[in-house]
Amino acid sequence: MKKLLSLLLVSVLLLGTTSAFAAQKVGVSMPTKSLQRWNEDGEYLKAQFEAGGYEVELQYAGDNDVPTQVAQLETMLLNGCTVLVITAIESTALGNVLAQAKEAGVKVICHDRIIMDTPAVDYYATFDNFQVGEIQGQYVVDTLGLAEGKGPFNIEFHAGDPGDNNATYFFNGAMSKVKQYLDNGQLVCVSGQTTFDQVATPSWKTETAQARMDDIIASFYADGKPLDVVLCSNDSTAQGATNALVAAGFKPGENFPIVTGQDCDIASVKNILKGTQSMSIFKDTRILAARTVEIVNSVLAGKEVEVNAVVNNNVFDVPTFYCTPLFADINNYQQLLIESGYYTAEQLAN
Ligand code: BGC
Repeated sequence: MKKLLSLLLVSVLLLGTTSAFAAQKVGVSMPTKSLQRWNEDGEYLKAQFEAGGYEVELQYAGDNDVPTQVAQLETMLLNGCTVLVITAIESTALGNVLAQAKEAGVKVICHDRIIMDTPAVDYYATFDNFQVGEIQGQYVVDTLGLAEGKGPFNIEFHAGDPGDNNATYFFNGAMSKVKQYLDNGQLVCVSGQTTFDQVATPSWKTETAQARMDDIIASFYADGKPLDVVLCSNDSTAQGATNALVAAGFKPGENFPIVTGQDCDIASVKNILKGTQSMSIFKDTRILAARTVEIVNSVLAGKEVEVNAVVNNNVFDVPTFYCTPLFADINNYQQLLIESGYYTAEQLAN
């Protein structure tokens, strides 16, 4: 009996040691390398998971190619990943592969973008996306003095990719601040394009936003009508708007409109310094990566996962951690982006 007990004890100890040393494999699936943001998320996730002793398979789905993302996720499952961290290209396109993951007991974490219409996700880590839009909208309200009754001012909009669930949150958040002024005439959208569908930018492409801005300028502002605001949901669309505005001869400090953005991409921070973009939103991707790693650590250790919100994905309320997005402009970028070690001053030099 004694022998049996000590044998048991030895095997328990051995098992304990083995599992502590068997690295869990995490599949990290990012949408594209063509936007600075996802390169950062991918690299920070990889580095932080590896620092925690995980093995990492990091893949980028071509340039926002949904079938590639699905195929890469299938390969990650075949390669023995026990956790998938996914930033989905198309929020409703991953149902089948995630059903396979669930069947295999694999944990799925939505990173930055929620995956809709599936029961097969476990947690979601993101920034408060509605708040991102609110900050952009409030900036327009404050800068133009709309609450003090100023106006009318002319405004145009560029929103994000219709397949990305975040895009409607950003747009609706911004609209929640500016809609009353569109309704009462203090803001006038000369093109008349104010619905999400009219102003969406497939794949968030700079070139697409730029082409639409070119058209709007040519059709509605060629007679020298002032354009006061271009409310863009993120930096890739803001860069498109800015390129078109510069090409059409709008001048910073003279008649350049307010241009909003999000992500603090290096190219956009440079534009902020040049006066061809007004603000951005800083979403510290180091913090989001750390949060996703923390969720995975807790899930695998069977510990309670810290969350502060739920987001419904049409199937259930997905337990969510919202990180806080921060306003960034020329007045605080030094402290926010350089002193925090996010960028070096050289990276931002024009
Ligand atoms: C992200 C934004 C990003 C956009 C384009 C969104 O889902 O939240 O930060 O600008 O995708 O990649």
